[in-house]
Amino acid sequence: MSELVSFHEIQTTDSEALKTEITNSLLQKNASLSPKFLYDNLGSHLFDAITLLPEYYPTRTEELIFQEYADSITQAVGTNRIFIDLGAGNCQKAAQLFSQLTPTHYFALDISVQYLREILPKLQGQYPQIHMAGVGVDFSKKLLLPDAVPKSERIFFYPGSSLGNFSTIEAIDFLKQIKEQACDGGLLFGIDLMKDAPILYQAYDDPLKVTAAFNLNILRVVNHLIGANFAVQNFSHQIVINEELMRVELYLESLQNQVVSWPGHQRVFQVGERIHTENSHKYTLNSIETILEEAGLQSQKIWQDPKNWFAVIYAK
Ligand code: TRP
Repeated sequence: MSELVSFHEIQTTDSEALKTEITNSLLQKNASLSPKFLYDNLGSHLFDAITLLPEYYPTRTEELIFQEYADSITQAVGTNRIFIDLGAGNCQKAAQLFSQLTPTHYFALDISVQYLREILPKLQGQYPQIHMAGVGVDFSKKLLLPDAVPKSERIFFYPGSSLGNFSTIEAIDFLKQIKEQACDGGLLFGIDLMKDAPILYQAYDDPLKVTAAFNLNILRVVNHLIGANFAVQNFSHQIVINEELMRVELYLESLQNQVVSWPGHQRVFQVGERIHTENSHKYTLNSIETILEEAGLQSQKIWQDPKNWFAVIYAK
């Protein structure tokens, strides 16, 4: 079956541009790294492990909502659509909906095409009637789709509260691009809601240290991409719950005074100095409605878990 799955790679940045981007973000006073570098093949596997942690409530809460409201979701979204998975990862969340939504096409987009190559052929074997394709693309800046995506009622699927990893401005911009390309379809997405700090701490700094490994892995990815010499053991995973900006902030903190170098550049990190790697914004139903409206979208239906920790929304 595997030969039936086609793979596309859409190059948005060449390796020189990538090196410049990483160098610039590392040389800022407040160093940062783009979260997209978290998801190489190992990073994708580590993220899957995070989703299995009892402390990481978003994945299982969202899954519960999808199971509980499968009929209602199907009614709102419609069947036989073009299904476009944004950040497909292991494709499990989408696959869970296949038997109900019966999409004609499934396009799995992910920054790690290598991971999709592992996952998709198996899935195609399980659902031979769906046209499947894997697309390696960094859609965080621009939502570029291969020409092979039919221009009729596209359902964009963005689970896992990934929209919360954008800043508000970026999220609105991204939603606008979805609106423009939906061809009268819509967006089915999951978003995490603001909650008490202790629950967030556990979810983003688990005692087994899987999230720490996931965050630290970005240093290995960057070493590979720009030829840097980050020593993973010299940094530690740190999180900040920023109640005012309603987000969890993720950092890598330098455990000692050190110099990190890569061709043409170097950066001193003092002990305690941090590299910012990710924000995970938490919304309220009101604040999510606001950004949808700013992008010209309207929520058609909202589903929630009994604790109101998470929301699944269909918007168009
Ligand atoms: N979309 C996920 C979230 O914000 C991504 C995520 C989960 C994540 N755990 C993380 C990103 C730890 C960086 C570090 O919940």
